[in-house]
Amino acid sequence: MASAASIIKHLDRSRYEPVPIRIEKDGRWTLADKAPTAISAAEVIEHVRLEAARPVRPGREAHFVAHPGEDTVLAIERGSGAAAPDSSGAATVTGVGLDVVFPVLHGPYGEDGTVQGLLELANVPYVGAGVLGSAVAMDKAVMKTLFAARGLPVGPYLVVRRPEWARDARAITARVGSELAYPVFVKPANLGSSVGISKVKSASELGAAMELALEFDRKIVIEAAIPNAQEIECAVLGNDDPQASIPGEIVPSREFYDYEAKYLDEGSKAVIPAPLTQSQVRDIQRLSVAAFRAVDGVGMARVDFLIARDTREIYLNEVNTIPGFTTISMYPKMWEASGLPYPELIDRLITLALERHAEKQQLRTSIT
Ligand SMILES: Nc1ncnc2c1ncn2[C@@H]1O[C@H](COP(=O)(O)OP(=O)(O)O)[C@@H](O)[C@H]1O
Ligand SMILES: [Mg+2]
Repeated sequence: MASAASIIKHLDRSRYEPVPIRIEKDGRWTLADKAPTAISAAEVIEHVRLEAARPVRPGREAHFVAHPGEDTVLAIERGSGAAAPDSSGAATVTGVGLDVVFPVLHGPYGEDGTVQGLLELANVPYVGAGVLGSAVAMDKAVMKTLFAARGLPVGPYLVVRRPEWARDARAITARVGSELAYPVFVKPANLGSSVGISKVKSASELGAAMELALEFDRKIVIEAAIPNAQEIECAVLGNDDPQASIPGEIVPSREFYDYEAKYLDEGSKAVIPAPLTQSQVRDIQRLSVAAFRAVDGVGMARVDFLIARDTREIYLNEVNTIPGFTTISMYPKMWEASGLPYPELIDRLITLALERHAEKQQLRTSIT
């Protein structure tokens, strides 16, 4: 919500009319109480930020209306799996009314291709990766497979599914010791924000870390820790000809960049540009574009690396298709440092979304 508020705040209001849509924890999509033309930037931000579920007008919960006087834009009802009925009783999923959607949603059910699939069905242009790119970049196991297939550097790892762990935890613990060696990182395959991730220093701690990760996903990735790692991030922007920004470095306030270090502590630092040699910068930028392509990236992504300080070996950690977007977030800050100010970045992302959508409309969808 902080990212969404920041994007709305920096939109050029002479060109764009933002329609803030909030997704409640119970799945309802809600609009602000005022028409987008009448709403001030402050009210938009207030609507996006508001944490407590406010009463939703009858009929509002399943529909959102983009323009005063116009009808349903995109109607969905959670649970039924189908489109909600419009006023005439007919089910509708249409994109009329919104020119482009900017999904500012981190993690599953937002960054993973689900919302993107809905927008594809509604035929609405949207910012960022498509269904496939979003989904594969959300899954740390699939993402590593795609990186490896392109010869991109990935550290040693194992994938363990819930039934395998349930069947023989001891055998898996032994494999972790022999194939990876401690310390290791244990991660739910599909998540983010470091939720459910533990650093495990010995075999005796593995069980607790696995149980925690299994609360969030049935597929777990166990990775050898990159020793004395330098965390480097690079922003990628573009469709067919993606460009890489000046890289930045994250210096976590804690042992690793866990949830507390990301969002709660004030102590984590971003260093832009990252202290790297020219040849390291070139490598990071080249690998960032290659990783973006490997996951079928579109529009934007932040590519994260771990560099082993002692050997200077570079490892790809992950691609984030909807990176943080506050004014202090790495993605916009790295572009700013590369000469692209925040409002122009948003403009560029919207243009890329419209271009991709227009291009798709040219494709044949019938053989007759
Ligand atoms: N293999 C690794 N070696 C060293 N540190 C790691 C490793 N994997 C993860 N980390 C640390 O954990 C943090 C979160 O892991 P990450 O895979 O980026 O998950 P998320 O998708 O939740 O951000 C990283 O930013 C880094 O600090
Ligand atoms: Mg990360």
